[in-house]
Amino acid sequence: MEEKKTLFSAVQPSGVMTLGNYLGAIKNWKSMIDDYDCIYSIADLHTLTVKQVPADLRAHTYELAALYIACGLDPEKCVLFVQSHVPAHAELTWILNTMTYPGELQRMTQFKDKSLKHADNVNMGLMDYPVLMAADILLYNTEVVPVGIDQKQHLEIARDLAVRFNNRYSETFKVPEPYIGKVGAKIMSLQDPTKKMSKSDENANAFISLDDDRDAIIRKFRRAVTDSDGRIIAAEDKPGITNLLSIYGAVTGKTIAEAEKEFEGKGYGDFKSAVGETVADLIGPIREEKDRILKDKEFLDGVFRSGAEKAERIANKTLAKVYRKVGLVQRMR
Ligand code: TRP
Repeated sequence: MEEKKTLFSAVQPSGVMTLGNYLGAIKNWKSMIDDYDCIYSIADLHTLTVKQVPADLRAHTYELAALYIACGLDPEKCVLFVQSHVPAHAELTWILNTMTYPGELQRMTQFKDKSLKHADNVNMGLMDYPVLMAADILLYNTEVVPVGIDQKQHLEIARDLAVRFNNRYSETFKVPEPYIGKVGAKIMSLQDPTKKMSKSDENANAFISLDDDRDAIIRKFRRAVTDSDGRIIAAEDKPGITNLLSIYGAVTGKTIAEAEKEFEGKGYGDFKSAVGETVADLIGPIREEKDRILKDKEFLDGVFRSGAEKAERIANKTLAKVYRKVGLVQRMR
């Protein structure tokens, strides 16, 4: 059998997921299991870089796991684990920190954005975020990393660090490639389609949460802000209609051109309702399945345990190699 390439990705357990997060990430992960050795993590250590309510963080971690499984990520067919359960992530981060320069991290767009947004808590972890992410990726000899466009800069750091380590010591890490999804990677706000859809928007009509019920979803799409020229086509001066077309495309797998054709001559009202119903049809069953799985904590704890064991086997091997190469004395057992 031909060896599959390793694919790694992760999502932070930071609360409700929006339709944008889902379409940009997890929706595509299931189909990748056939083609890659897939490792999917819940990046709880990353989440700590902004202030958390401890009980909420714990609940969100279970919720994200239930969501992964509800989206078809079968824990028997991929490695599904919680980042903090595998200490090697924090340990490799330390080693990589010794070869990362503050300037590289200070110029990261996300660090700058989050520093403004969380001005009262600009901590070292926030700045070091990309190094922890590099450790996540490099521990597993990852070749492919599906990420949203907003994480591409971080992946560049992971690549730079892999190359830097390999050059300074000897060939150790694979240099990972990004895998940027096609349509719908960036889903915009329904109320201001020039802004990204965000769960922290004060206006709940601006985003679709995976926890919204059918009525709420359809209502939010009916209220989506559009222009008034009446043509259902994607165009730069029509961000609202363009956003709805790309959501429709991402959910149905159709191209924008196909979607435009389908709604040719229709009114905005009918179009918005159709998009709303399509999204509700997609999300409804996932939400129900997630809620069902979430009730079984014991099952989820079992998934976490076996996931961490599988992840640790790979991660510890890489970490041991790294420790040896940098000159640390091997601990005897
Ligand atoms: N930073 C990513 C995000 O917020 C989550 C993440 C953590 C990740 N570690 C990763 C993604 C490693 C890909 C690979 O979207």
